[in-house]
Formats: sequence, structure tokens, C-alpha cells
Amino acid sequence: MMIGLPNETRPEAEGSVSEWEQGKKQSKAFEGPQLDAGTIVNALAEPIFVVDNAGCVCFANLAAEQFLATSASALLGRPLAEILPPDSPVFSLVEHVRVGGQSVSEYGVTIETPKIGSHFVSVEVSAVSDYPGAVAVSIQERSIARKIDHQLVHRNAARSVTAMAAMLAHEVKNPLSGIRGAAQLVEQNAGPEDRELTQLICDETDRIVALVQRMEMFSDERPLERDAVNIHEVLGHVRLLAQSGFARDVRFVETYDPSLPPVYGNRDQLIQVLLNLVKNAAEAVPKDEGEIILSTRFQQGVRLTVPGSRARVELPLTVSVTDNGGGIPEDLKAHLFDPFVSAKAGGTGLGLALVAKIIGDHGGVIELQSAPRKTVFQMMLPKAPKEIRA
Ligand SMILES: Nc1ncnc2c1ncn2[C@@H]1O[C@H](COP(=O)(O)OP(=O)(O)OP(=O)(O)O)[C@@H](O)[C@H]1O
Ligand SMILES: [Mg+2]
Repeated sequence: MMIGLPNETRPEAEGSVSEWEQGKKQSKAFEGPQLDAGTIVNALAEPIFVVDNAGCVCFANLAAEQFLATSASALLGRPLAEILPPDSPVFSLVEHVRVGGQSVSEYGVTIETPKIGSHFVSVEVSAVSDYPGAVAVSIQERSIARKIDHQLVHRNAARSVTAMAAMLAHEVKNPLSGIRGAAQLVEQNAGPEDRELTQLICDETDRIVALVQRMEMFSDERPLERDAVNIHEVLGHVRLLAQSGFARDVRFVETYDPSLPPVYGNRDQLIQVLLNLVKNAAEAVPKDEGEIILSTRFQQGVRLTVPGSRARVELPLTVSVTDNGGGIPEDLKAHLFDPFVSAKAGGTGLGLALVAKIIGDHGGVIELQSAPRKTVFQMMLPKAPKEIRA
């Protein structure tokens, strides 16, 4: 079913060409299986297809056949317009790449046909360099912030979490402060042994209040107050907080794009997000060689479809936190951003749930890649509009 692509796809980055040539020379001596690009592309779980300059499908991997519920023989040579409905956002992305030449990623795209049902996905489209007018489309179901947004906002079960948080905060905080006050009164006339107990009461009530306060943040549905935020200043602040406390022994590396425009966001909430991510990273890294990389980058062509409309938000500001810890446990990955998911003794499992909520409120996206010694949490955020920066 491999059609239209050469057996060797060359990497585009200039720096890697010589490595590629060298690899080819070495491969003469290599006696293992000779894999062609098609075999590899077919092994990928992501649907990938290529549309030629006439708008017809000229390549589809196995995952694309499954996703589109159509066999390769029925797909190849057929106009994409016969496969996807004419108003599908995929067409404008294909056109955009064909005209501009630059790759685009769009999050929050709904692909819907009677045959395949409705899928909420991210779509990446890039030009195929050796075939003028041809573009490759790959589809991923991976936008975590949108998923959590659905979980927190749209599902009834999640509504009850939010409602419960509000109820807890309201009903629990007052009696707790009463208990704490009473313990302090008792402490004044208590002997040393009893004092240990009153101290215990105070510490534990403080811990519950802190937990309730974190829960309370989930039920905060006020519209976000946003401004032009210098994300490098925020990162510096978070790094300072971390280094004077929980990440004292960790090496920090900062790789920033100094020309990055300000984020359209809420400074306090962005501090909260980065603190949660850096704290998780610090808890994951090895004791003696712990390293956390904070980085920022400007990336054209990342967009998010606004649910229920045709509008799109550009998300060109990428901020990431990378650590060299052991990676995310495999069994947690699918539910990592759900509340109360934790693999730590004493962890509340609210850190990442809050991160996802705040990034979702900002209209951004968060993604995760995790392998042993390299875990990356990467968020894509909108830049502040000109009139606000002024
Ligand atoms: N950088 C990371 N490396 C490895 N595992 C991680 C990383 N970040 C998160 N995790 C895993 O995800 C789980 C959930 O993280 P989350 O921040 O939501 O809760 P927590 O850290 O367990 O508790 P809390 O944030 O309340 O202290 C963690 O328990 C941990 O197992
Ligand atoms: Mg945490």
C-alpha cells in the first residue's frame, strides 16, 4: 500500500545531513533488516496521509486507513474532498501550508464524518519537500489541557468535584480555625508533653487548610484577569523560590529566547503553574545530579480552535520544564492531569490538575513527553495583544 513516497526520506535539517550520509555509509556494513520508510511509517500509531497538488490522497499509512475507516485502495488517488466534509478545518490547513510553505499545528480540531464519527484531535500539516504542492497530514489525539477542560467543565462527575471543592472550602475552613484557636489556648497552660499534642493539632489543621485552599482554586470560575506578562521574569522568580527551598540541590539551566513577546496571562497563576511543574521535577530528579532545564521558544504555526466557533487562537509562545528524573510511571500517564492522581506518599495529586485548569483557562495547551532521564512538560501560550502591551 506504500505509494508516492520514496523509500528513503531525507531529514530536512541542514545540520543532520552529514550525519545521515555517514549513517548511510555505515549501513553498508550493517547486516540487520533493511527497513524502508514505508514499513516504519506503517508501524506508527498516528494516522499520516499525504495530499498531492491536485488535492488527492497519494499516501496513507495503516493508522490512517483505520482512522478514516477506508482501505488504501479506496483512499489512494481519491480527492480529499470526497473523504472529509468540505467544511473540515483540514482543508484550510492544507491550503495554508501549500501557500505559505511553513508547517502548522492546530489543536482542538474536530474531524467528523458519518463513517468515522467525531474525533477531537490535533492536526499537523507540513510540506513534502521533494514533491511541490504535496503536503503531509498527521493526526494526534493528545491535547491534554483540552481533555482536562472537558473533564473539569463539561462532565457531570467533574462538576461535582468542583462543587465539592467549593462546599469543602466553605464548610471546613471555619471549624478548622476554631479547632486551631482552641488548641493554642490549651497550649498556654499545658505541660511539655501535652504541648506536643497541641502542636500536632495545629500542624494538622494547617495541612488541611492548605489542602482546602488548593481545592478552592478549582472552583474559582471568575473570568481570568489577564495582562502582558514577562514570562522570563516569572521563570526567574520561580527558580529563586525553588532554589531557596525544595530544589536547593538541583542544577538549573535556563535557555531563553530573549526576544520572546509577553504572554497574555495572569502572573500569579502562571507562577503557580511553573512552581507546580518545577516542584514535581525537583521531586523526580536524582539526588546528586539533578538538573532542571527551563526554556522558552517562539514557534510559528501553533493554533487552537476555539470550541464551538470557527475562531482560532495563535499559541506561539512555548515554555517548557525538563528534568532528568526517572520519568512518569506508565500506569499514571493516561490520567496524569486528573485530580487526586499521585504516586507519592503524601502527594495530593492536585498539582498537575491545577496546572491543566490554569493553562486551559488561558486558552493554552500543555503537552508531555516522558522517558527515563528526560521528562518534558511543554506549554503553548498566547501572546499579549499589541494594545495591552502598550
Ligand atoms: N516531572 C515528573 N517526573 C516524574 N513523575 C512525575 C513528574 N511530574 C509528575 N509526576 C507524577 O505525576 C503524579 C501527579 O503529580 P501532581 O503534581 O498532580 O501530584 P503530586 O506531585 O503527587 O502531589 P502534590 O502536587 O499535591 O504534591 C506524581 O505523583 C508523579 O508520580
Ligand atoms: Mg506535584
